Amino acid sequence: MSQLRVLSGIQPSGKLTLGNYIGAMRNFVALQDEHECFFMVVDLHAITVPQEPAALREQSEAVAALFVAAGIDPAKAAIFMQSHVHGHSELGWLMTTLSYMGELERMTQFKDKSEGKDAVGAGLFVYPALMAADILLYNSNLVPVGDDQKQHLELTRDLAGRFNHKFGDTFVVPEPFIPKVGARIMSLDDASKKMSKSNPNAGSAISLLDSPDEIRKKISRAKTDLGREVIFDVQNKPEISNLLSIYAQCSGQTIEQIQATYDGQGYGAFKKDLAEVVVNALEPLQRKYTDIRSSGAIHDILRDGAERANVVADKTLRAAKEAMGFLPSAR
Ligand code: AMP
Ligand code: TRP
Repeated sequence: MSQLRVLSGIQPSGKLTLGNYIGAMRNFVALQDEHECFFMVVDLHAITVPQEPAALREQSEAVAALFVAAGIDPAKAAIFMQSHVHGHSELGWLMTTLSYMGELERMTQFKDKSEGKDAVGAGLFVYPALMAADILLYNSNLVPVGDDQKQHLELTRDLAGRFNHKFGDTFVVPEPFIPKVGARIMSLDDASKKMSKSNPNAGSAISLLDSPDEIRKKISRAKTDLGREVIFDVQNKPEISNLLSIYAQCSGQTIEQIQATYDGQGYGAFKKDLAEVVVNALEPLQRKYTDIRSSGAIHDILRDGAERANVVADKTLRAAKEAMGFLPSAR
């Protein structure tokens, strides 16, 4: 594969989970050696639901540090804050004007996040237009995301096509990069829902910064199915199947190998070992995270990342505005 442009983002709206790591971040790391990568903390997206300023500040720095702790190398990939590159807001507005109410109303993430609320922010509604701008601004070819972002990627492709058709070829139409396994890690208390940092039940998600004891406690309390056999069967054993996926993703073993190990042993032994597998998988990341936070290096990394991102973003934005008929500005 020749070198491609890769871009993705994660919201600083809570503590990152094992789902974020397995579904998204790990693939960021895998892509950085071969491709030109841009990974950002999408703070402008996070404010589509209310955020406390102090919490937003802390979480933003934490997510950026977790990128590095997870293995993203700032010498290879640009790591930056979305709000440090003004082109996102500006192209976001242009994309909003190209989006139809009907297609935004169909977005399942909007339906989920607005359901039952009486004051739904307009930003939540136009969120996918800003996400399209994020991606198109870099003429990204590949966008590594978890399964839940597929619909937003489809809309991005539609908007790119619509713009190109109306105003002439300007944007690359991007492809989603969704892992075959691990694209949807489910909640520990209910395998019909995705593991999410915004779930109010703390026991439902493993945070990347949970202590070993917290991880052990959460896994020992994780919901299981009827019976006692450790077998992968999403239809009849959704809870155990999810735990098996986590085991496989964190250990590198296949589902078959794990099933064979726990043949006849029941859920107890399996869960006990699973906790150690997860603790061991997160230990190096947590160590590196502590180092980075205490060194203060993240500010320089973010400044450098934004500089690199701005060069690309400015150029694309200028081309898009010119194609739409805006007068060139003096500078
Ligand atoms: P978010 O936390 O919504 O900003 O998501 C950041 C990235 O993590 C996106 O690519 C999501 O698709 C991915 N992601 C979030 N939760 C999960 C999950 N439970 N399983 C797999 N991927 C996930
Ligand atoms: N919407 C994504 C999520 O919730 C985050 C995001 C914003 C993103 N902009 C992006 C992901 C651009 C990939 C590319 O997970």
